[in-house]
Amino acid sequence: MYRTHTCGELRINDVDKEVTLSGWIQAVRKLGGMTFITLRDRYGLTQLVFDENASAELKNKLEELGREYVIKVNGKVIERSSKNPKMPTGEIEIVVSDVEILNKSDIPPFTIENETDGGDELRMKYRYLDLRRNPVRENLELRHRMGQEIRKFLDDEKFMEIETPYLIKSTPEGARDFIVPSRMNQGEFYALPQSPQTFKQLLMVSGFDRYFQIVKCFRDEDLRADRQPEFTQIDCEMSFVDQEDVINTFEKLAKYLFYEIKGVSFNDDFPRISYDDAMKYYGSDKPDLRFGMKFTEITDIAQGKGFKVFDSVEYIGGIVAENCADYSRKQLDQLTAFVQKPQVGAKGLVYVKYNADGTFKSSVDKFFTPEDLKTWADSMNAKEGDLLLILAGKREDTLNALNELRLEMGNTLGLRDKDSFAPCWVVDFPLLEWDEEEQRYFAKHHPFTSPKTEDIELFETDPGKMRANAYDFVINGVEIGGGSIRIFNADLQQKMFRALGISEEEANEKFGFLLSAFKYGAPPHGGIAFGFDRWCSVFGGSSSIRDYIAFPKNNAGRDVMIDSPSEIDEKQLNELSLKVIKK
Ligand code: AMO
Repeated sequence: MYRTHTCGELRINDVDKEVTLSGWIQAVRKLGGMTFITLRDRYGLTQLVFDENASAELKNKLEELGREYVIKVNGKVIERSSKNPKMPTGEIEIVVSDVEILNKSDIPPFTIENETDGGDELRMKYRYLDLRRNPVRENLELRHRMGQEIRKFLDDEKFMEIETPYLIKSTPEGARDFIVPSRMNQGEFYALPQSPQTFKQLLMVSGFDRYFQIVKCFRDEDLRADRQPEFTQIDCEMSFVDQEDVINTFEKLAKYLFYEIKGVSFNDDFPRISYDDAMKYYGSDKPDLRFGMKFTEITDIAQGKGFKVFDSVEYIGGIVAENCADYSRKQLDQLTAFVQKPQVGAKGLVYVKYNADGTFKSSVDKFFTPEDLKTWADSMNAKEGDLLLILAGKREDTLNALNELRLEMGNTLGLRDKDSFAPCWVVDFPLLEWDEEEQRYFAKHHPFTSPKTEDIELFETDPGKMRANAYDFVINGVEIGGGSIRIFNADLQQKMFRALGISEEEANEKFGFLLSAFKYGAPPHGGIAFGFDRWCSVFGGSSSIRDYIAFPKNNAGRDVMIDSPSEIDEKQLNELSLKVIKK
């Protein structure tokens, strides 16, 4: 028998028991004639003690032991004289009577403890060792629990889990496809799904009514902390529903998860904010609602006073940092440098200190009187002691820069606590998005998203103004999920393709199967997909989804542990009738 207990299990009322434990040696400490070993397994840590009176044989074995050796020990549980309140097993230790080395270990490339000395790349290369560390293991435990709860909830709500294929044809989510060559059909390729979108719609045509799948999706796009080339969706679709039904069903799921996983209750409905308002007040379609600091536009009242920078621009607006009027020169210079970073893109920052004594001090005192500045402060709802931060420029660029500035101020002022949660729905997205480069419309969500009924006539006159039955679910400024009510009528679908500049021929070639299915009685349907990795990371309090994926890829899309992607040999290339042309 390898173990009677796990390393996280023994407590003070187990004292005097004879036990057997197996695990990895995390640390060996010698203190006088005594040796202490911390033994680790998935469940925790237990202290082993080899006392001075141990047999010579045991002492010899002890000399052989090293970090990360796998051992089995027999011994007796005793009460510790110096207890460790930070360890669940900290009141006891095991006096070892016998030890067996089950396997040796090379010296690990980094310390396998909560705080490690290993850098990112090294830990990715030895991911299987990093996964032994508590914080990393706990992240996967969180993911596991969330997966279980999601399945439980959706099963109770009559959703059926159905798998869809991975070797498919291009899907329309807007990223690049990963392509798989077919050996049996030379010169032809599969695409890996960017999502199961078309299949879940076909399942609705088949009558499955309520579908879900926790499923891998593949997108060849630039990677960021919240993007992996392969990631997991909680993908869902329902029939005979409108937008309200879908939002209500999944708000219930979100509340269930918040409660079961985080112990957080939400009594009220999650706020809903229109896409237009989200852009106007937060400069983002995924606003972080943990804090206020909404934008106020002051273009009208700030122009016409001879300040050239303002007079020639499309938009002037700002935020109020409460109680920050005492910001120093240095702090303001840092903020100016921040907004001038290329990824923020503002030319400069105008500040107005609304001092506690009611006076004003600003970077534009030359152009504006205190009365002018008071009008701004009033319109921005600022009070004495506050700091006004103002940007000006092209509308879209400035809203974007203000968004970055708002988030930065939120961080600086400690308003973005990872343990507080502000979920919301963003609704009324535009249906289409104009692409200057390609001079054509793209679907904002995907081409199967339906327009609002009252906007359908705009197809002919002003397609850019059409709104979609589409919604995003956002928590703390992270887009957790997105979905829509679908087009279920072949004629409307053709109209949509036409608006996107997709010819009938091309539509038939790419999505003929779906259009043809729609001819056989497609029910009204709609759905949503959540980014599972992102949801885990928001619940876990980390900004990187990598921490919640057992074997993630790095920012260059590489798995440095298995060294992939890698070249394939000539024989494989021949079988696939492929030739590599290196650029
Ligand atoms: P969408 O493209 O919005 O919708 O994707 C749904 C959710 O998946 C997550 N996500 C990602 N997570 C990690 N890495 C990525 N590269 C990545 N890309 C997306 C996000 C996002 O909100 N078929 C539609 C859903 C529908 O209409 O039902 C879809 O895929 O959290």
